[in-house]
Amino acid sequence: MSSPIPKTQIEKTQAQLLKHHGGNGYQASLMIANSYDARHDRSFWRFWDESVACHYQVGDGVLDLGAGIGQFVRDCANRYPKSSVYGIDAATYMVNDAVKLPANAQILLDDLNLPQAPIAENSLAMVMANNMVHELTQPIKMFKATYQWLKSGGRFCIIDPIRQPLKQQLDKAYSHTQLWGDETSVEDLENVFEFFLEHNRYHADDLIYLLESAGFKVVDNSTLLNGKFIRLVVEK
Ligand SMILES: C[S@@+](CC[C@H](N)C(=O)[O-])C[C@H]1O[C@@H](n2cnc3c(N)ncnc32)[C@H](O)[C@@H]1O
Repeated sequence: MSSPIPKTQIEKTQAQLLKHHGGNGYQASLMIANSYDARHDRSFWRFWDESVACHYQVGDGVLDLGAGIGQFVRDCANRYPKSSVYGIDAATYMVNDAVKLPANAQILLDDLNLPQAPIAENSLAMVMANNMVHELTQPIKMFKATYQWLKSGGRFCIIDPIRQPLKQQLDKAYSHTQLWGDETSVEDLENVFEFFLEHNRYHADDLIYLLESAGFKVVDNSTLLNGKFIRLVVEK
């Protein structure tokens, strides 16, 4: 019997991501596309200018980690027309469906569990990781690469869901019958608990511990959406 062909690192990540996205990449890309404008309103951009872009100098690079269909990459490329603006994503259903980008922007297909994108060391002033860190199987290689790519004084913004009580997650997403009804299968329940674990990986202190261990200094720390998300800004 022939043994199965081993998957490359990025193929393993792509399979894991498709499962995380409920088996429907198109639906996942629609969800982020449709929520983008509300998440990037005027107050977001004020925060970005004041707390993340503060050490940007014309020509410095900008990077979005887990860029999805590239909306943030597009907006940064328009805001910083003299900069190279990169996005990284591992999912082909995101990258192939990307929005039209200005000439100074590009999206790179790369696995942030083991980043290999050809970005020069010390070349970036700003990096964003929005709603992505919890999707990684481990974030250490990504934090190390980001530290290398950032210039001294460059800033890294992380927005990510943080641990919530089980009740909060279940009551929001499922009816009592969906969870406790006799018709509910073990597989359905396994998916519910896997979803809970994947979106409740880190406490805010866990992320701060990892970022400080990577060499970053925390400069801003706030919660969003009634404590469901953390928004951290760290500096190299
Ligand atoms: C929830 S979406 C957020 C997209 C975008 N940052 C936003 O806020 O609209 C997370 C993105 O991270 C990407 N991602 C997750 N794990 C990744 C990995 N290991 N390498 C590269 N991209 C990854 C997913 O494909 C997806 O596009």
